[in-house]
Amino acid sequence: MVTVIGNLKGGCGKSTITFNLAVWLAHAGENVVAFDLDPQATLSEVVELRKEEGVEPFINAYRPDTDPEPILKEHKGHALMDISASNRWTMRQAILMADRIVVPVPPSQADVWSTQRFLDIIAETVGRKRDWPEVVLFVNRADTHPGLRESDETEEALTYLSRVTVLKDRIGQRTAYRRSFSEGRAVFELSPRSKAAQEFLGLAKKLYPSLAKKRRTKRPVAKHAKLAS
Ligand SMILES: Nc1ncnc2c1ncn2[C@@H]1O[C@H](COP(=O)(O)OP(=O)(O)OP(=O)(O)O)[C@@H](O)[C@H]1O
Ligand SMILES: [Mg+2]
Repeated sequence: MVTVIGNLKGGCGKSTITFNLAVWLAHAGENVVAFDLDPQATLSEVVELRKEEGVEPFINAYRPDTDPEPILKEHKGHALMDISASNRWTMRQAILMADRIVVPVPPSQADVWSTQRFLDIIAETVGRKRDWPEVVLFVNRADTHPGLRESDETEEALTYLSRVTVLKDRIGQRTAYRRSFSEGRAVFELSPRSKAAQEFLGLAKKLYPSLAKKRRTKRPVAKHAKLAS
C-alpha cells in the first residue's frame, strides 16, 4: 500500500508523521520503504542520523532525487511518501501513485483553508486519470491546554470537507517530536509511555488496523546510546 503524507503548508508535520510511521511499521516486522520527495530532505536527514546512531530497526529511505515508480514495481510491502508543495510536479506524481493520502492539519483556520486547497489539487490531479484515493485527515500539533478550543473547531471544520475521512486520533503539540528528530528515534522509542507515544500509537493503529495487534520488536538497540529520559 502506498501512503502519501501531504498538505500544502510547511511545518504541519508531514516528515514527522512519515518518519514515525516508517519506524512503527519496521518494528512490526513489515517491509517498508520511505520516499523523501521534498528537496529540503528532512526525512532523509533524520533517517541518516538514525543510521549513524546505530538505532535498529534500519529504515530504508530514498533521497529526493529518486524516482519511486521502478522501486514500487518491485517492492512488496508498505511505501510511505513525504511530499512538499515546493515541488508541484513531484507532488502530483505522488498523488497519482497513492492508495491513500494522509493529511496532518494543525489547528488553525489558515490550515483548514490550505487543506481545502490541497484537496482541490488532489481533485485536479486525479481528474479522469484514476479513482479518488482514500484521503485521511487528522489534527496534528493539537493544543494540549484544555481551555483552548481551536483543535475542536479545526476538527469540526474538517468534517465539512467532502470525500475525506477525519480521524479523531489527534496528535498533540509535544516536545518529544523535536527530540525525536534530533535523536533519530520515533517518539515511542524515546519514551513508550509518554503522551506523545500513546497518541502516535493510536493514530498508527487506526491507519494500519491489521497490524494493531502484531507483536513488536523489543526496544531498539542504540550503539551510541543516548537514552531517552
Ligand atoms: N505534534 C507535534 N508536536 C510538536 N512538534 C511537532 C509536532 N509535529 C511536528 N512538529 C515539529 O514541527 C516542525 C515541522 O515538522 P515537520 O518537519 O514534520 O513538518 P513538515 O510538514 O514536514 O514541514 P515542511 O513542509 O517544511 O517539510 C519540526 O520541528 C517538528 O519536530
Ligand atoms: Mg517535511
